[in-house]
Amino acid sequence: MIPADIRKDFPLLSEVCYLDSAATSLSPEPVLQEMLEYERRYRANAGRGVHRLAQQASQKYRDAHEKVRKFIHAQEGELVFTRNSTEAINTVASGLPWQNGDEVITSLVEHHSNLLPWMRLRDRQGIDLRLLTPGPDGTLDPSALEAVITKKTRLVAITHASNVLGNVVPVGEFAKICHDHGALLLVDGSQSVPHIPVDVEQLGCDYLCFSGHKMLGPTGTGVLFMKNPGLEPLLVGGGSIEQVTAAGYTLTGGYERYEAGTPNISGAIGLGRAVGYLEALGMEDIQRHEQDLTRRILAGLAGIGNVEVFGPGPAGDRIGVISFTIRGLNPHDVAVMLDGEADIMVRSGHHCCMPLMQHLGLADGTVRASLHCYNTIEDADLLVDAVRKIAGDWER
Ligand SMILES: Cc1ncc(COP(=O)(O)O)c(C=O)c1O
Repeated sequence: MIPADIRKDFPLLSEVCYLDSAATSLSPEPVLQEMLEYERRYRANAGRGVHRLAQQASQKYRDAHEKVRKFIHAQEGELVFTRNSTEAINTVASGLPWQNGDEVITSLVEHHSNLLPWMRLRDRQGIDLRLLTPGPDGTLDPSALEAVITKKTRLVAITHASNVLGNVVPVGEFAKICHDHGALLLVDGSQSVPHIPVDVEQLGCDYLCFSGHKMLGPTGTGVLFMKNPGLEPLLVGGGSIEQVTAAGYTLTGGYERYEAGTPNISGAIGLGRAVGYLEALGMEDIQRHEQDLTRRILAGLAGIGNVEVFGPGPAGDRIGVISFTIRGLNPHDVAVMLDGEADIMVRSGHHCCMPLMQHLGLADGTVRASLHCYNTIEDADLLVDAVRKIAGDWER
């Protein structure tokens, strides 16, 4: 059970009904306090100096790494901090030693950040790119992968949960197929890690990326898990070296190898605190709470005549992302009305998933309500009532 009083940790919730957590979540006061503490009391660079502030900052930065590593059950040395999921995916795309004829398989469900890096590889390095087609509700069947994977498939890059339709992809089954064919699996956990328990050991993936700002952490923080850290780093420079001479350099091991330049220190410390906050609530409880609210919203929207809801039904394996349209209204107009008339914040448009929208025939996209642990039954009912009013469907 999620205690109702956590809402006091998110002061914005007294002003608005926030249903846009798939875009970015709110950060609770303890996360903000932890970041301020760094800024006020021990601000110094991490991993470099020896004075006491530098040592404290370095220790807190390392602690943050540890907390996030344990949160997804990764081993030491398997986790790197990035700016966001996008940077993590680009690190994999640019860091693997691609060869002519390599194939990459991804899907039409992907966020642009898990599509463009592969398209660029296709255009620049001639890899063969294949896209799996989802079912009408966004579901991706492992048999679709089985049908196209070959010995040449180097990598499969697939989302764990759709940021448009909310469906959870059975990535564990994808992992098995990949490994039977000698292919690597990258899982985009941007929408799963913040909402459901994720254990990289159980998933069996080779890479997992996620963004701190969607899991109560600060913007500018992200994570790349690598089962076998062997990628060429995206950046080289200060902080990532073992030895530099006038003639050349040797890179260091560990996460520092991949984190050249001064990192987002307060952000990392905030992310570590966010993970602690989520753990204290319990990821199973967060998942259950969001599922209950999702079912309530889906049931409510199903009773409104002019509304069409996309994605799996209430019984499907899904997260709290609900996409819908109101017949005759542009999704952006609906979002503006929800804001103006009911202080409800939702996302509208293509959600950085244009190919999926084209596939679904939704030229203007959808309205998307997305949940996090701080949402309540009152939020769910407020949304349904406001949509009913906008849809002008009082009779039903
Ligand atoms: C599924 C998915 N992948 C990747 C991203 C990109 O995340 P970021 O913008 O934090 O890099 C998002 C963001 O919405 C997403 O939902």
